[in-house]
Amino acid sequence: MPWIEDKIPDFTPEFMDPTSLKMASFYDEIKFPNFDGLENYSPIYSKGRSNTFTSRLDDEIRWNAKILGVGCGTGPLSLFLGRGDREVHGIDISAGSLLMADEFRELNKLENNFFLASDVFNMPYSKETFDLVISNGVLHHTMNPKKAFEAIVNVLKPGGFIALGLYHKYGRAVTFLKQRLATILDQKIGLLDYHTGNLKSEGKREAWVRDQFFNPHESSHTPQEVFRWFTDANIEFVNLLPHFDQPGFLLSETRHKFDVSRLADLCLALDLQQIREGGFFITLGKKPL
Ligand SMILES: C[S@@+](CC[C@H](N)C(=O)[O-])C[C@H]1O[C@@H](n2cnc3c(N)ncnc32)[C@H](O)[C@@H]1O
Repeated sequence: MPWIEDKIPDFTPEFMDPTSLKMASFYDEIKFPNFDGLENYSPIYSKGRSNTFTSRLDDEIRWNAKILGVGCGTGPLSLFLGRGDREVHGIDISAGSLLMADEFRELNKLENNFFLASDVFNMPYSKETFDLVISNGVLHHTMNPKKAFEAIVNVLKPGGFIALGLYHKYGRAVTFLKQRLATILDQKIGLLDYHTGNLKSEGKREAWVRDQFFNPHESSHTPQEVFRWFTDANIEFVNLLPHFDQPGFLLSETRHKFDVSRLADLCLALDLQQIREGGFFITLGKKPL
């Protein structure tokens, strides 16, 4: 098996589809979401604990769970969750991002994390391996998000959870406008973007601006569409953020009814949080036992 710089096992296929090839070289350059220079574990931990989604996930996933981050990028979420006896694998097609993730792991002597180069469509895992698979901001950069979702379902154990973060068709409306403006303003588009202004390091700012406004391939989706994917793959619907983002448990109940109206969804185009975060929603599901 080939290795990347003797550090990352490389399971990427000899021939990748054109979209994956394009994305691999794009993210090799920008390394998303990047690190703040000499970041140590403490900011990873405090950011993970202060975010409502990641802290609830951390609270509710067993300490000995086997977790997979699909399209882990430079790996902050995988590194945050890799505590206790958890075993956390992170796969990505970007060698540059994986090397950055692995350098962080090595520097901080983290023993629960494993980074591998792999395409979501050809993962080197057996059926039903993981208790939790997270794919945050990835499937909308693939040639076939539904097929990528099915590949994820395949490696999920019965009783295991899936967390799928995707661009929202309506929540991303203002970002679509900024992408148009970016063709004129180039990197200065960051001056019109709230989130860019909040990022402290140059590396993180550049990665965010290029990821959001100059991405070579993205699609956008609705919760209704993901709910159909769930139904087709026999995945139970558990939660949806931001719509059902109320205090309480993230994963404890499965819901039999999916009750988000088209109007509630459309309203996300005007939601300040959505505008600031680039229009993003997370759907959580469970593979029945
Ligand atoms: C926007 S970044 C998200 C990174 C990380 N999940 C996060 O939340 O910060 C998208 C990542 O998906 C990866 N990616 C894109 N297509 C992929 C594919 N077909 N298989 C695996 N990873 C892929 C990219 O290389 C990139 O690192």
